[in-house]
Amino acid sequence: MSFLSQTLARVKPSPTIAITGRAQELKAEGRDIIALSAGEPDFDTPEHIREAAKSAIDQGFTRYTAVDGTPQLKQAVCDKFARENGLNYSPAQISIGTGGKQILYNALMATLNPGDEVIIPAPYWVSYPDMVLLAGGMPVIVPAVMENGYRISADQLEAVITPRTKWVILNSPSNPSGAGYGAAHMRALTDVLMRHPHVWVLSDDIYEHLVFDDFRFVTPAQIEPGLKERVLTMNGVSKSYAMTGWRIGYGAGPELLIRAMAKLQSQSTSNPCSISQYAALAALTGPQDYIETSRAIFQRRRDLVVNALNDCPGIVCPVPEGAFYVYPSIHALIGKTSAGGTKIADDEAFATALLDETGVAVVFGAAFGLSPHFRVSYATSDAVLMDACARIKGFCEGLR
Ligand SMILES: Cc1ncc(COP(=O)(O)O)c(C=O)c1O
Repeated sequence: MSFLSQTLARVKPSPTIAITGRAQELKAEGRDIIALSAGEPDFDTPEHIREAAKSAIDQGFTRYTAVDGTPQLKQAVCDKFARENGLNYSPAQISIGTGGKQILYNALMATLNPGDEVIIPAPYWVSYPDMVLLAGGMPVIVPAVMENGYRISADQLEAVITPRTKWVILNSPSNPSGAGYGAAHMRALTDVLMRHPHVWVLSDDIYEHLVFDDFRFVTPAQIEPGLKERVLTMNGVSKSYAMTGWRIGYGAGPELLIRAMAKLQSQSTSNPCSISQYAALAALTGPQDYIETSRAIFQRRRDLVVNALNDCPGIVCPVPEGAFYVYPSIHALIGKTSAGGTKIADDEAFATALLDETGVAVVFGAAFGLSPHFRVSYATSDAVLMDACARIKGFCEGLR
């Protein structure tokens, strides 16, 4: 019998490990590598937030806190939802976790029984299907193809709901596509969900503030108040305030669920880092100008990258509504052979050859459940982005 658990065997190793490992090897050999694979802003955490953390240490806020967050931070989260999303929650309906990731994990672990289905549009954030599998559930993948703006339709959603459906996970704007659901589209989805009272909604709003042009962010509980009793709205400070390393995320939902999540957290990690909670409090209650500054920078970089990639023969790159990723199609390149002699059989072969021959590391689409595509994170400087896109163009021009 294996020493390792059968639960772990349900989870596949991360498909991104191969490319990340190869990038590290090449770097160690002294090659000039550009990694466009990071899932985090390249900015420092704003100064007033860092200062709040230092002062929390000096004031002795270095002990255990309530398991799922301090009352002050929970209140700040309630105020945030009221201010920005028109959603009224009480502190008892709020959970603070070690990143948005723990909120999602706790919610799935606290609710899924063997065979329960979770609807996940693809391309998806890599952790969703594996978290569902770890929790004993069954991911039900629905393709959100480029031709439909990387969004699922109401009909697609309706068609995959079964009596075993427990959750649908929505992520707008999306990692990896950057696609966002506007109010009318979200309403069409919530209308479907109103007809299926056994289905709960997990809304991953982590990229809420990174939206571009005239796109307006919406979240399901705000669009359809009738759903609020079965929505968990997840968000956090990682992407909005350049705080990925601080590990603070939060969720808002019915008390029954929040209490169950706290029970799980009490027997695993206990409270999220006390100092980080004080930093997050400063982020949510302090000046908000960082959000607009970073949003504008990301919008400029998005335009730069979309234009440069659309200039590469065989690549089609739609303009995303948000986040800091693009998810271009390489349909036209499948079957070709690179200048270095690699057959581009699929998007993994494309990403591997691109890395080997140009030093640019991107994540291939199969990792996110929708091929043939690749994901570029543009959370890096304009100069690096221009260099990377020029290398990608040279690679595409060399394909035969
Ligand atoms: C779509 C999505 N959801 C959730 C997370 C988790 O964020 P964190 O745990 O840092 O709050 C990420 C991070 O990459 C993400 O891309």
